[in-house]
Amino acid sequence: MASQTVSKAIIPAAGLGTRFLPATKASPKEMLPLVDKPLIQYAVEEAVAAGIRDIIVITGRGKRAIEDHFDLSFELEEVLKESGKDTLLKEIRRISELANFCYIRQRHARGLGDAILCAQHLIGDEPFAVLLGDEVIDAAVPATRQLIDLYEELGTPILGVQEVAPEEVSHYGIITPKPVRSGLFRVTDLIEKPAPKEAPSRLAVIGRYILPPSIFSILEKTPPGKNQEIQLTDALRRLAQAAPMHACVVNGTRHDAGDKLGFLKATVAFGLKNPELGDRFARYLKGLTF
Ligand code: G1P
Repeated sequence: MASQTVSKAIIPAAGLGTRFLPATKASPKEMLPLVDKPLIQYAVEEAVAAGIRDIIVITGRGKRAIEDHFDLSFELEEVLKESGKDTLLKEIRRISELANFCYIRQRHARGLGDAILCAQHLIGDEPFAVLLGDEVIDAAVPATRQLIDLYEELGTPILGVQEVAPEEVSHYGIITPKPVRSGLFRVTDLIEKPAPKEAPSRLAVIGRYILPPSIFSILEKTPPGKNQEIQLTDALRRLAQAAPMHACVVNGTRHDAGDKLGFLKATVAFGLKNPELGDRFARYLKGLTF
């Protein structure tokens, strides 16, 4: 049983977005829109729906648009008010009231582990969630809530996982699983982006984590790993060797929107679900011939 509640989340958004160049040359990858919302808003809304109120975004150079997006937009609100666009006005206001936001700049792009470490002083001695905004998870129960529920039951670090195709294991952190019950595993080891023949399973970490504050002291001592970056996976590996850690299969449809094809598929999926556009978009897609 966990004794502390999870009320803070870290959303790393300092990456250079090289996979989306040139679109990301001057604007953050996190601001690419899936239909009409930027990618990062999906992660923020998931965290908020899971009960989190404090959101720490790790940014870097060229990422100011993220801060502006979640801030009050006085001029825009005035224009919408004057032109009677009340629904839009409500939506724009809602964004700035979603959560308490805090931004930290990672000065050098040294990897995900280093980005998490930047938030150490704001997290203090509490468990916290990490959401990687590249992965958009469409789920009846928000993915982060699924993880928090298990954290509250087990009191151990919890990783969200899903099974991936053998040829995809090299894109993810992969766990060595020991089955506990349906959809729940004890994590005995992890490896970052293994070659298919080195992969201990096909259970990939999908960018959702509930972590204890003890991860910070491990991250401080973690040397650069894969791609010369400080890898969160390497620190988790040490944590899993020292104390129990679990992984749960997240229920929901995951879109890897950090990848061009994944982004296109996510756009189609969210376009079809959109109440204003869905029917017309479906008719358009049905009429396409190849
Ligand atoms: C990161 C993590 C990896 C995880 C993945 C999920 O990799 O390092 O362990 O499986 O996110 O999306 P990245 O996609 O940043 O290269």
